[in-house]
Amino acid sequence: MSDFSSAEEPPAGGPAGGPPNSPPNSPPNSPPNSPARLYFRQLLAGRDFAAGDEIARQMVNFCYLIGDRVAGEALLVDPAYGVHELIAIAEADGMRISGVLATHYHPDHVGGDMMGYTIEGVARLLEEVSVPVHVQRDEVPWVERTTGLTREDIVPHGSGDVVRAGEVEVELVHTPGHTPGSQCFHVEGRLVAGDTLFLDGCGRTDLPGGSPEQMYESLTTRLARFGDETVLYPGHLYSPEPFAKLGETRRSNYVFRLDTPEQWLSVFGR
Ligand SMILES: [Fe+2]
Repeated sequence: MSDFSSAEEPPAGGPAGGPPNSPPNSPPNSPPNSPARLYFRQLLAGRDFAAGDEIARQMVNFCYLIGDRVAGEALLVDPAYGVHELIAIAEADGMRISGVLATHYHPDHVGGDMMGYTIEGVARLLEEVSVPVHVQRDEVPWVERTTGLTREDIVPHGSGDVVRAGEVEVELVHTPGHTPGSQCFHVEGRLVAGDTLFLDGCGRTDLPGGSPEQMYESLTTRLARFGDETVLYPGHLYSPEPFAKLGETRRSNYVFRLDTPEQWLSVFGR
């Protein structure tokens, strides 16, 4: 992360959950996905919201708000803990929640039962706001089982689909491996990666639905088209810095040093 501070447009709403990344009152004719329209916040569970929740503090999940300042609409990525508070954070910024983007089915990302605890998640969120929950097609039955949501609540997607918040476009990128329908979200030079890729390491592949072979293919092939300047925003704070350029991660993260499927499977294979 040492060189990130010199980047021309540092993403904000950063580690301290500080102010969003561009001034309010963008000109109404700003083109879609321009920095002036884009609303992007990274929020750490157990610190920036749900601060009193012991599970949130232990799990160090990130939640993201991605939206269009002009339209006043935002998508919520992986609301699990403190969902009422998340809605209030968005509203305080003048944003209305227009949908949920779910990276994958695990309860620390979408809610459900985990280690004897119940995490409120999307089921609780839908009691407060009536919005679609966007999920990769292969993840739908898993999300239903974990959260209790039904098909009516969920919009299934394929890779390459675009979900809009106002006129800001978010591309959904299917990256199986951690789970069958894990997905990343690409918006304006940012990649919100869930548990597919962390700054150090990647998501586990030994949990139900995980596949080391698919994870290798996702990291080396499906994410290959995103340039080194793309900023990686992970699903957990598992490293000192909360985000990093993808090029830096490719240099430092050991998962990119496993050059062949055979090397990969010797480390991650079952
Ligand atoms: Fe996960």
